[in-house]
Amino acid sequence: MANELWTKVDHYFDERLVCADAPLQGAVEAAREAGIPAIQVSPTQGKFLMVLASALGARSVLEIGTLAGYSTIWLARGLAAGGHLVSLELNEKYAEVARGNLQRAGVADRAAVRVGAASAILQQLIQERADFDLVFIDADKRSYPDYLSAVLRLTHPGSVIVADNVVRDGRVLEESSADADVRGIRRYIEMLAAEPRLLSTALQTVGEKGYDGFAISRVQGSS
Ligand code: SAH
Ligand code: DHB
Ligand code: MG
Repeated sequence: MANELWTKVDHYFDERLVCADAPLQGAVEAAREAGIPAIQVSPTQGKFLMVLASALGARSVLEIGTLAGYSTIWLARGLAAGGHLVSLELNEKYAEVARGNLQRAGVADRAAVRVGAASAILQQLIQERADFDLVFIDADKRSYPDYLSAVLRLTHPGSVIVADNVVRDGRVLEESSADADVRGIRRYIEMLAAEPRLLSTALQTVGEKGYDGFAISRVQGSS
């Protein structure tokens, strides 16, 4: 549940710093019209992803969980010139709406949606020897541990991995939760903690999407 003050502060930043334009607002509108749940990142979070991609000079971005392409547009806008993005989505209908949104945002030339179970497409990407500078994990939470294992084979020293929804109103603390998503998030955090190749932290967030958080990791090593 979003607190009224958190929402007001988000709107204060939205108006001054985020300034989501017609294609971004249209993407949210198209999703609503198609009956797609409004679970996309908030505007401030979307712009955070753009700032991050831009700061990294990202030439290749992988997103796991497209929905209607709202976060995809932000990430694509942060790409370096000539860069490309691949976003994975299980739901064919969502992917079609996302493609329309990417088209209208003028990023369809650099952002592709691949439809199917992310775990299967990640294996294909490994076969293709794909390599990404930035990865945004935001699909089914129960599969985050599997996604991380694959992503470690799809990144290089200096790559950054961001995972959404790692707090979920504090449910991450539920040690013996029966919820597969909570268990997946907790296992993901344990994997980060145990992985010497990753430098990791997590940040709690509040805002118009309520109380949640991101885990952020850098793949270690030279370069
Ligand atoms: N990143 C989006 C929100 C993603 S919501 C944004 O911020 O705009 C999570 C998405 O993951 C949903 O669209 C859901 O259909 C998709 N998803 C769920 N399970 C999946 C799977 N196994 N493989 C690929 N996508 C999946
Ligand atoms: C849900 C998924 C998300 O990625 C998110 O940011 C919020 C909610 C969900 O499945 O309910
Ligand atoms: Mg999310």
